[in-house]
Amino acid sequence: MLELKDIRTSYGPIEALKGISLKIDQGEIVCLIGSNGAGKSTTLMTISGILRPTGGSISFMGKNITDAPPHRIVEMGISHVPEGRRIFPKLTVRENLEMGAYTIPRRLKTTPPNPPLSKGGAGGVIAQLDKVHGMFPVLKERWKQLGGTLSGGEQQMLAISRALMSEPKLLLLDEPSLGLAPLIVSKIFKAIRDINQSGVTVLLVEQNAHAALNLSNIGYVLENGTITLQGIGRELLNNEQIKKAYLGE
Ligand SMILES: Nc1ncnc2c1ncn2[C@@H]1O[C@H](COP(=O)(O)OP(=O)(O)O)[C@@H](O)[C@H]1O
Ligand SMILES: [Mg+2]
Repeated sequence: MLELKDIRTSYGPIEALKGISLKIDQGEIVCLIGSNGAGKSTTLMTISGILRPTGGSISFMGKNITDAPPHRIVEMGISHVPEGRRIFPKLTVRENLEMGAYTIPRRLKTTPPNPPLSKGGAGGVIAQLDKVHGMFPVLKERWKQLGGTLSGGEQQMLAISRALMSEPKLLLLDEPSLGLAPLIVSKIFKAIRDINQSGVTVLLVEQNAHAALNLSNIGYVLENGTITLQGIGRELLNNEQIKKAYLGE
């Protein structure tokens, strides 16, 4: 579904990705683990077109997207939840979600400005709203509340839900568990599993290596802009090198 071949990405003179290759098959959860500064966020930003690689190629569903602009990449079905859950704090929960649906403009036009919360699922934006409300009922309860007034965990749920509003085929998640309490973290991980089971392929970046590898079909380890190890998620949990470096064992 997604393939990166020898991707290089730089910030001015600093080369953050030094030739990364990875593959994601449809239906999988793939995780990318690695310490701070390894290049995980840079990898996601390169896939979603926010950063342009200086070398290598990216293909998605058989199309070369290496130089495609971010809006085009969203339209093609890749949605990115950035690190630090950047929701719109001054917009309501509902408005935040509607912003995520901008790639379905035709359907958006047929939606009245402030429709009542739908019960059935009429297609388009309303149907997607129903889906994310089903996944995170708290967002339905809080639909009029400003995004900035939500708790950290609720903001993460909102950020993920907003990304789902464009009906992605592939969801890129950048450290969704960062800074959240353990109980909320397990909720978020359960949601990721549910999202995947609903048919969305997931690329998950995490510092919580244990939870990420446990959930993932395939794991990649990124160090200093280079992939140093890859394998079946659960098998990597028993890898001595990973145990020492990332699992604190
Ligand atoms: N805006 C930036 N300008 C310059 N260097 C950056 C910038 N963002 C990240 N870097 C550098 O690129 C490398 C990879 O960063 P990043 O992808 O954010 O790592 P990770 O997400 O794995 O913590 C780091 O060395 C970091 O210092
Ligand atoms: Mg990062």
